[in-house]
Amino acid sequence: MPVTRKDFPKDFLFGAATAAYQIEGHSFGGAGSTHWDTYAATPGNVIRAEDGAIACDHYHRYEEDLDFLKDGGFDTYRFSTSWARVLPEGRGQVNEAGLDYYDRLVDAMLARDLKPNQTLYHWEMPSALADLGGWEHPDVADWFADYVEVITKRIGDRVSKIATINEPWCVSVLGHFIGRHAPGKVDVRSAARAVHHVLKAHGRGMTRLREMGQKDLGIVVNYEAVKPGSDDPRDVAAANRQHAIMNQLFMHPLFKGEYTADAMEGYGPHLPKGWQDDMAEISQPMDWHGVNYYMLNRFAHDDTIPWPSLKQVEGPLPKTQMGWEIYPDGLSWLLTWLKDEYVGDLPMFITENGMAWPEADTGSNFGDTERWKYIQDHLAAVRQSMIDGANIEGFYYWSLLDNYEWAFGYEKRFGLIHVDFDSLKRTPKHSYYALTEWLRATD
Ligand code: NOJ
Repeated sequence: MPVTRKDFPKDFLFGAATAAYQIEGHSFGGAGSTHWDTYAATPGNVIRAEDGAIACDHYHRYEEDLDFLKDGGFDTYRFSTSWARVLPEGRGQVNEAGLDYYDRLVDAMLARDLKPNQTLYHWEMPSALADLGGWEHPDVADWFADYVEVITKRIGDRVSKIATINEPWCVSVLGHFIGRHAPGKVDVRSAARAVHHVLKAHGRGMTRLREMGQKDLGIVVNYEAVKPGSDDPRDVAAANRQHAIMNQLFMHPLFKGEYTADAMEGYGPHLPKGWQDDMAEISQPMDWHGVNYYMLNRFAHDDTIPWPSLKQVEGPLPKTQMGWEIYPDGLSWLLTWLKDEYVGDLPMFITENGMAWPEADTGSNFGDTERWKYIQDHLAAVRQSMIDGANIEGFYYWSLLDNYEWAFGYEKRFGLIHVDFDSLKRTPKHSYYALTEWLRATD
């Protein structure tokens, strides 16, 4: 039986999520260059070398986009503010036009009765700071806290929730060890520093926000369900290792003030000097926890690869346009595990869940029935974890709009709303109509 809106508490919040660089159009309004601009301009990194210069032109069309949320009956909108739009050089001179824009954007949400859920860093490291070392630089946590202060002074009185960092694993490991995100490094030493500095920036940002009297603070972490590629004990150990260095890499320091033994094995020798002194600030209490969940990944042991000596292997389940295995049970497992292991009764929000699916050609309403099924199955998983005792207070679909999917350019479409990237015309898909009808069925 599919779940209905009535299966969730009345005050449960439903929303959709986006991020600044993926939708705004970073060439507009005086924003500075980010390390995604430079990464995309380097041949071989991004499909067709596409970047976020225009993206969905949300910078000029945000009213129309927010109307989709209001008309659809959503309660909340998860968005991010771009560091490089606020401070084009990362420090120093403020871009007043950028602050004005976020001011208008937040007011436009409130005018539509949407609770603004802001993320402070969704990957727009200003190029000027990236050139100095970005997440590897020992001062990056203080640079971040200064940016946090500037933007919060302007809009902090009207946002209802703030997350410091989006997906610290992608920022540090995917960007500095696996090399598939900006800045595109493949270096365990860089990754170790980035891992620690991202955590330190979170802690420093939290401290600054608390000093400013801000409430409802958290972080958004990405997780995956993990299984071994076979019953071979070495593959089982590889899957356990992946769970530790992916799902626990940030949660252990954030909630227990220490790195796991598995993380220390690879990153320990390269952590920045004096890292132990940062752990108290890193593990200060938060008010909510953001969970991004999309898929199941399988792993096998591989001796030919240096630490962590594992590789991803293909599984048999149906896959999204990204090639990600669809596994809703993983979400109920994850939420229960997080409750038991780390967050206890702290409210959790599914800050991202969604699927990419190719542009459908079934007429003008883009008949993405697969996406609607994906959403329903994951909502049922959330509901199950609530029955099992997890304190879940909201769910955001990723994403409101088709947008810039980082190294995959504009090819992978996650949106409830279709965007034609030539004309920038928006067209709601079947999933938008189905979800919004579902949201309205409250009696
Ligand atoms: C994670 C990221 O937060 C978001 O930027 C990305 O587009 C989606 N997941 C889909 O990959």
